[in-house]
Amino acid sequence: MSENGVGLPLDRINLSSEPVTSTSDDPRRQNFYEVSTLDGGVKEKLHVVSEQPAKVHAVPIHQRPDLLVPCADLVNCEWQRSQAARVHSLQKSCSEFPVNLVLLQGRGETERLLGHARLSRVVGHSGSLFVESVVVSVAERGKGYGRTLMEKTERYARSRGFKRLCLTTHDKQHFYAHLGYVLSTPVQNAGAMTAFIPMETLLRFSRMPSEETSVQTQTKMHAQGDRDSGGGCAVRSPPSFSLPPPPPLSIPTPPPPPPPTIPFQTLTETPYRDAKGLPIYWMHKDI
Ligand SMILES: CC(C)(COP(=O)(O)OP(=O)(O)OC[C@H]1O[C@@H](n2cnc3c(N)ncnc32)[C@H](O)[C@@H]1OP(=O)(O)O)[C@@H](O)C(=O)NCCC(=O)NCCS
Repeated sequence: MSENGVGLPLDRINLSSEPVTSTSDDPRRQNFYEVSTLDGGVKEKLHVVSEQPAKVHAVPIHQRPDLLVPCADLVNCEWQRSQAARVHSLQKSCSEFPVNLVLLQGRGETERLLGHARLSRVVGHSGSLFVESVVVSVAERGKGYGRTLMEKTERYARSRGFKRLCLTTHDKQHFYAHLGYVLSTPVQNAGAMTAFIPMETLLRFSRMPSEETSVQTQTKMHAQGDRDSGGGCAVRSPPSFSLPPPPPLSIPTPPPPPPPTIPFQTLTETPYRDAKGLPIYWMHKDI
């Protein structure tokens, strides 16, 4: 039996005729108790008012510069940097990427900042975006907002015509796997460079060494071609060396090189390391 004899905690009893709203954290349910003394007795009424939760939405921060400092503080709670440095980084958000999305609940005076995620282009993969700095404010974790943040981020990326989200994580691979992300191979995140450097230039810097050789060869060939054409209608003379004879027909052609092998990896074992040598998981999701 509780303090008041009717099974209700005292702090839930409204001794005035005004209803008391409980302190429930769940914005969808507001419970309050009411006491009637009309017949001399104490009656308990539990009102459960189911309300629509205040709408959660994601907005690019460049559309909400008033949120730069609060968002910097939110992100800094997880990954410490000076506030000025973080604000500076957030200020790079623009429609041409990177885009910093903020997860908000409600509007106007009741608006709450719940989370953040940053999207940038992926070098060499025009249909992909790289998502990073995914964070939900400490007080709001474990309530489904992380899932909502990722869903809103995916929806935003889709609305911009992208088909895949890529990411890395040190320790949240199970969270992402739960949301449909699969283990993947590294890609190159263009980061804030995309705002300044054309994608064509980024592509040149991101080629694999083997591709680089052929690019250099092509570039040299183009340079040669340019020089040749600089003199007007130059006619190339035939090469002064003779071609080697064709191989005898009896020699079988060598088999094509095997396809690149994807290294063994699981959600608890990764072959990849970050710049500090720490294990890192590459993941992606087709959206
Ligand atoms: C990771 C983070 C964004 C998750 O947000 P959250 O609000 O706590 O997560 P949610 O409550 O939305 O969880 C969504 C689902 O994922 C599951 N989940 C959450 N964290 C998980 C974890 N570490 N491992 C496995 N599953 C997890 C939940 O059980 C929930 O499942 P359900 O929807 O089927 O019930 C949040 O914990 C956070 O900000 N962490 C610190 C920053 C960080 O590490 N970011 C990731 C960088 S890669």
